[in-house]
Amino acid sequence: MRFHVRPGPTVGGVAIVPGDKSIAHRWLIFAATAAGPSRLVGLPPSLDVRSMAAALAALTASARPALEAWARNGGARAEGHGSTWNVDRDGVARVALEVEGEGRSALVEAEAPLDCGNSGTAMRLLAGVAAAAPFRTVLVGDASLTGRPMERVAAPLRAMGARVSTTDGHAPMTVEGGRLRGIRYELPNPSAQVKGAILLAGLAATDRTTVVEPVASRDHTERAIAALGGRVDRLGTEIAIEPFQHAGFEARVPGDPSSAAFLIGASVVTGAALTVRDVGLNPTRLGFLRVLRRMGVSIVERITGEELGEPVGEVIVQAGARPTGTRIDRGELPSVIDEVPVLAAVAATAGGETRFEGAGELRVKESDRLAGVADGLSALGGRADVAGDDLVVTGGGLAGGVAGSLGDHRLAMAFVVAALAAQGSSTIEGAQAAEISYPGFAARLADLGGAVEALP
Ligand code: S3P
Repeated sequence: MRFHVRPGPTVGGVAIVPGDKSIAHRWLIFAATAAGPSRLVGLPPSLDVRSMAAALAALTASARPALEAWARNGGARAEGHGSTWNVDRDGVARVALEVEGEGRSALVEAEAPLDCGNSGTAMRLLAGVAAAAPFRTVLVGDASLTGRPMERVAAPLRAMGARVSTTDGHAPMTVEGGRLRGIRYELPNPSAQVKGAILLAGLAATDRTTVVEPVASRDHTERAIAALGGRVDRLGTEIAIEPFQHAGFEARVPGDPSSAAFLIGASVVTGAALTVRDVGLNPTRLGFLRVLRRMGVSIVERITGEELGEPVGEVIVQAGARPTGTRIDRGELPSVIDEVPVLAAVAATAGGETRFEGAGELRVKESDRLAGVADGLSALGGRADVAGDDLVVTGGGLAGGVAGSLGDHRLAMAFVVAALAAQGSSTIEGAQAAEISYPGFAARLADLGGAVEALP
């Protein structure tokens, strides 16, 4: 599949986006390991979250039918096993998925390796769950995921007492879980996935578990533990939890700010006003709004509610001046880690230079995003270079052209954003990757006015 993009029309209006992928992964785990039934509304029908649901289905008996069915159809019109789902045009599931949890101790050994597909979050968080389960779990993924580093999560889980082996530092990863001890672990690099895995394992440990991060990463795991009634002590970037078995819960997954970032980027580069409603406003995810403000874009956010410890509300972007370049330093990077491609796309259309400093971690995302962003923006007639671990985007506009997604959802969507403000038309190849996190992306952009088509 490819996206064909014609520049010109503005992208604006009022939008909602599918549920947050990071939060959905975690809440699915909490639902499957709860002592009692849970109801989740608003799960995104994205491929990554479906991979997580399928893996959890294999680890549970009571919750299996509902999770399996949801994993199969991603919430497309379906009924059964106590749940009904119905995903609307915006990709938002309106009705609940009901998950019959029987507690962490009721998890069962999977009959086959758990296929995490393209999802690093699924693989790393599930490693944390498997570390506390007294059987063997094998985690596998697609070619992209198999190329990503797994020792970073294996090492702390071993220190807690699990037997974990990787394949030369990668998947397949085998986890033989059991009784765990709490540890104090200083993360060498900020990573919400590794922190999340340690905390999930720590919930089943015999004593207190502490994670110290060099810079704060997204905190969805610790917010959910606290909201479910667990003890979470936070002191700066040090997070400590106590062993805890939570009960079932009900929650609505907020819209994904990382998906909203592409619509917001599209509105900024086309100079239109946009409001995104029902979106997650967790500050650890909103670095991109701070960066855009620094670039001169007028944006406000307004909290209107809370779901399981997560602030929810709206983001309002005003139509305005052309953005100017800025500097994103390494301390700021974790808060924009998934938004670098779209920020780089905006930067390519801006005035002046934008520099993302110390962004080496982007080399081990779904693709080598440092090289991928630089190559893709250059292919679209812009200018972006990798200098050591820095990504440097030279603004001034793009001519248009043909760019490839490298099978990476965020590159596919970021290049569409860049192409919306190019001089000529563009083609983005490998467009199906967008389904990993944002099913229906091109159609939603078209609803908001963009001349974007998904072609076979
Ligand atoms: C995620 C954490 C980040 C992010 C990823 C989702 C999560 O990865 O890039 O898309 O849900 O915990 P790292 O933990 O590797 O930084």
